Amino acid sequence: MVNVSFCRLGRNIPEPFAGYVLPYVRKSIAQTEGENAVTVLGAMWNGLACAAAVAVWDETDGELLSLFVDPKARGCGVAGRLVDLLLEEGARLGKDSLSLEYVLKDEELAAMDALVESRGGAVIDGAPICGMNSDDFLDSPLLGPALHPGWRRPAAVRLFSELTPRELELLDAIEELPEYLRPSALGDRLDPALSAVWLADGRPAAFALGFQTGDRMFCQSSVWRGPNAPEGSFRALIGAQVNQCWYRSGGSFVFFISPINPRSAAMAEWFTGGNYEPYTQRDAWIPIPNKE
Ligand SMILES: CC(C)(COP(=O)(O)OP(=O)(O)OC[C@H]1O[C@@H](n2cnc3c(N)ncnc32)[C@H](O)[C@@H]1OP(=O)(O)O)[C@@H](O)C(=O)NCCC(=O)NCCS
Repeated sequence: MVNVSFCRLGRNIPEPFAGYVLPYVRKSIAQTEGENAVTVLGAMWNGLACAAAVAVWDETDGELLSLFVDPKARGCGVAGRLVDLLLEEGARLGKDSLSLEYVLKDEELAAMDALVESRGGAVIDGAPICGMNSDDFLDSPLLGPALHPGWRRPAAVRLFSELTPRELELLDAIEELPEYLRPSALGDRLDPALSAVWLADGRPAAFALGFQTGDRMFCQSSVWRGPNAPEGSFRALIGAQVNQCWYRSGGSFVFFISPINPRSAAMAEWFTGGNYEPYTQRDAWIPIPNKE
């Protein structure tokens, strides 16, 4: 018989639970101050770690930053129980709601939607997002070469992780850049090793921001092209991003591009030859009823 148990974990999440939480979340909560600002829970399956969940709390509400259940333990109510325990914690702390965001498809999407709705929550949004499987573009002349140790970035392309703090500030201060496209808009989520800039004469001409959304799952969150962005710069930037994903995942991964407008939809078609999977990006919200 299977015995599932749950435990509270510290902000410096111990192994083996740490493997169920994204690196940027681990880093961000380790730096968060405040006694009741973070709740980390783990689940065990016959004594072995099988899942973890992380919520952060502000004055009034919470945000589920991470929820991951080992594929072997799915469909048994582990995620539901972890969320219930977080809602109980939210009630104890006097909070109003728990918000969450996820990018999933098929059964996992149905499970998360069901989990939210059966707790009186609402799925607020449902934007489509293209999931490109790296195995499908190994042979693509556009991106395939970047999935190889021999691939070299053009000299003009630099990863954000290679920039000085001053150079990063300059990126945020580009005048014509709308607020929502600024690197700082992504906060802790922005992954400097998955974000790249094209520098022309030392000035940013184009950039692409990226972050990790799950185990071997990466997302190009936004792209900016200034008036001086040269032909081919976007291709080089996405090449730099998928090259980094390839190294980090050890070979096989899903790369998300949001077909937010006809141009980016055409781009996803162009890169994959139409060979991508339709995922859904959701924002959701669960009320916390019984405040104490
Ligand atoms: C989505 C995920 C969390 C679900 O975990 P799980 O432990 O299998 O979920 P549960 O068994 O608790 O099921 C949750 C709900 O979905 C329902 N459900 C499960 N499978 C379903 C399906 N195929 N269709 C519809 N509903 C389904 C369950 O009945 C349950 O509803 P209830 O709470 O109202 O009873 C899990 O698949 C996962 O970790 N996926 C990866 C998530 C990820 O990539 N996270 C990235 C970091 S945030």
